[in-house]
Amino acid sequence: MAKNENLNSAAKNKNDEFYTQFDDIQRELNCYLDYDKNVFRDKTILLPCDDPVYSNFTKFFALNFDFYGLKKLISTSYAPNSKKFIFQPMANLFDEESPVFDASKENSHGKLYTLDRESIKTKPYPVDAVKLDRYLDGDGDFRSKEVSKLRDEADVIITNPPFSLFRQFLKWIMDANKKFLIIGNINCITYSEVFPLIKENKIWLGHGMGRWISGFIVPEGYELYGTEARINKYGERIVATNQCLWLTNLEQGKRHRPITFNTMAENIKFCRHKDVKGKSILYAKYDNYDAIEVPYTDLIPCDYEGVMGVPITFLDKYCPEQFEIVGATESEGKGFSNGLWDSDSTSAQATVNGKKVYKRIFIRHRQK
Ligand SMILES: C[S@@+](CC[C@H](N)C(=O)[O-])C[C@H]1O[C@@H](n2cnc3c(N)ncnc32)[C@H](O)[C@@H]1O
Repeated sequence: MAKNENLNSAAKNKNDEFYTQFDDIQRELNCYLDYDKNVFRDKTILLPCDDPVYSNFTKFFALNFDFYGLKKLISTSYAPNSKKFIFQPMANLFDEESPVFDASKENSHGKLYTLDRESIKTKPYPVDAVKLDRYLDGDGDFRSKEVSKLRDEADVIITNPPFSLFRQFLKWIMDANKKFLIIGNINCITYSEVFPLIKENKIWLGHGMGRWISGFIVPEGYELYGTEARINKYGERIVATNQCLWLTNLEQGKRHRPITFNTMAENIKFCRHKDVKGKSILYAKYDNYDAIEVPYTDLIPCDYEGVMGVPITFLDKYCPEQFEIVGATESEGKGFSNGLWDSDSTSAQATVNGKKVYKRIFIRHRQK
């Protein structure tokens, strides 16, 4: 393997060990509760790819078990020996008190933790009542038969899955037709496994993206550098990526709130984006797509009836009652443009006067 390839996969696999902050989980989850206070009532929630001892997901749902009216919480961990990078202490002192604790399986097996309506009554604090139920037969790989069986038993699947297996993870959920809420990279929007589902309104972005997710916990040994690294109020080591989003098929209110836009003439006159103000690129017809270029979401004209190319971050503001998603640039997937692409063109990326623009999604206003 080439040296660079090694480094790339190392970087990728390290990202698999980014852990989610409690406050970020809380901020996102509150939005679903605001929309429907019974969203999790009588539901079994599965938290796979977790490490219940360290995971804020497990802690968060245990603390809210009664408030949410949950039926059962299931959380599974991935064996330390199977992880590409181990940042955490291998031994878990907390589990040593469990009657099923087996030191010989600690590093090689995944673990299954549960909390239900009966067991929550056994301890004064709900988090203490989360118990190590048993070791899994295998390492806790979400693709295994035993974890897939837990998936089938669950109503909702919630986690921050390994970034390097994101596509497989989403497919694993969709194959079982489950409700879910997961974290992914912003670029996942245009994956061939993701975009068609967004276009068909089967899945959508959660409440927040980018800075809304304020950073991930990285364990000791992960080098912190640059302005994007810090220690949070709990003393946890944080890297902020500004590159992530929540993806879901749970309803939330924000996506049903239409946004008010100016007319094309107003935008041309009052545009606040200096890089495009007065430039021919603004609203130019693409060389190779039957659509016009809208370089910023806030510049979508309210009075244009044709197809517009917008940045992928538009989806953060997407209201399906207001806009129809027509497609995306062919560079993201064959056939994605829904016939808008000039197939004689040598570029699958959209161009204006020969100059390539970044990834674009094609939309149009819904007819009133
Ligand atoms: C991005 S981290 C998130 C951890 C935790 N869910 C959280 O948000 O704090 C993903 C976790 O999945 C684990 N993992 C990696 N590959 C896995 C697999 N094939 N099956 C299950 N878990 C896996 C990683 O070791 C890591 O602990």
